[in-house]
Amino acid sequence: MELEEAAPVQEVVSCRVCGGSDWQPVVSFGPVPLANNFLEAATSYADEPRFPLGVISCRACRLMSLTHVVDPDVLYRKYFYVTSDSRTITDHMRYVAGLCKEQFDLSEGAFVVEMGSNTGEQLAEFRDLGMRTLGVDPARDLAALAAERGVETLPDFFSAAIARRIKKEYGTAQLLLGRHVFAHIDDVADVAVGVRELLDPAGVFAVEVPYAVDMLERSEFDTIYHEHLSYFGVGTLAELFDRHGLRVIDVQRLSVHGGSIIVFVGRDDGPWQVHPRVHELRKLEADVGFYEDGTYERLAESAETIRTSLAELVRKLVSDGKRVAGYGAPAKGNTMLCVSELGANEIEFVTDTTAQKHGRVLPGSHVPVRTPEYGKANPPDYYLLLAWNYADEIIEKERAFLEAGGRFIVPVPEVTVVSAEGPGRMP
Ligand code: TYD
Ligand code: ZN
Repeated sequence: MELEEAAPVQEVVSCRVCGGSDWQPVVSFGPVPLANNFLEAATSYADEPRFPLGVISCRACRLMSLTHVVDPDVLYRKYFYVTSDSRTITDHMRYVAGLCKEQFDLSEGAFVVEMGSNTGEQLAEFRDLGMRTLGVDPARDLAALAAERGVETLPDFFSAAIARRIKKEYGTAQLLLGRHVFAHIDDVADVAVGVRELLDPAGVFAVEVPYAVDMLERSEFDTIYHEHLSYFGVGTLAELFDRHGLRVIDVQRLSVHGGSIIVFVGRDDGPWQVHPRVHELRKLEADVGFYEDGTYERLAESAETIRTSLAELVRKLVSDGKRVAGYGAPAKGNTMLCVSELGANEIEFVTDTTAQKHGRVLPGSHVPVRTPEYGKANPPDYYLLLAWNYADEIIEKERAFLEAGGRFIVPVPEVTVVSAEGPGRMP
């Protein structure tokens, strides 16, 4: 994603869910580069574009939103993010396919459409269950990868206009999926209109998003980056869908990506009853302070605590002659490093399994990205676990590193050092 010219960015004025404009300021991280804009080492760093990064919370519907929206063509047309080839995610995708099939009686031949289908891995699970599939994803290179996998993909952003086109050419959808894409969409009203239009009367829209309650409770402030325009609770999503002839019918909490929810949405004239789980989770949101300013003030405080204690710990280790590297080059890692003001002087390299990231440097911090093999051959004393959402999988996989005396620094929900003996607080 090399940028030829300064990209357009717009300040958020009214709430994309309820139209309100009574915003509580939450955090402001200043101008930060785009989290998936991995640079070729030769790129002139001075030209690296930076955009304001901050979060506000709508006091009417409690949507947490970025303060600024970067043009989606800049963010997604040439996209580096490919779905992780990890056991956690592969298992999760199989689980989602089975869950949707069982819960909504999807039969063979059912038509499944996915927005933000990336390389088509999730849709392939549905195809393997005998369903007809169609992906919609604006990242042109990724649509080609999906086609190689045999998953037909329209190289576009999902919208009401695209929904109409799909309905005309392919018919209505029994299942529409949006996994970790809804939070990336500015005009969610237009997408909701498209969903209503494309859904079969008895169809279901399954939307999976990081759960704002988990983000708040575990201080996952690094999930704030320019792609994540919205941070949702069930109450806020219900408000959105109610406005567009849709209804939240069920919800499940999930452990992936630091805590997520999959929300099932039907047409308001559809056959589905609202499951009591929906009311229970909305009550939980009220109980944990989702509708109170103080909750968001605490997120800002814990972000500050993590940022300063992480920077202090890493600088101390480096000055004691320890070698520190990063484990994983996720987008959120770039927020963590930029906000903590850690760079190539402290972090020797990061390893990542994604081929597209190798040989590049991280945006902002300019730490070089290496292969996992490089990490094995040059193990640091400490790995900062930037991909903390895979902590269990990674710590199990890196047993040998730990047994040899290596340690992991896990940044959230608080800075923790993990050795072969297990986790301890900061040394
Ligand atoms: P991801 O969790 O998708 O995060 P984000 O949405 O913040 O970009 O990305 C995880 C990154 O971590 C991805 O680049 C792959 C990498 N990774 C490893 O390098 N090793 C691993 O064992 C795992 C599970 C992930
Ligand atoms: Zn609102």
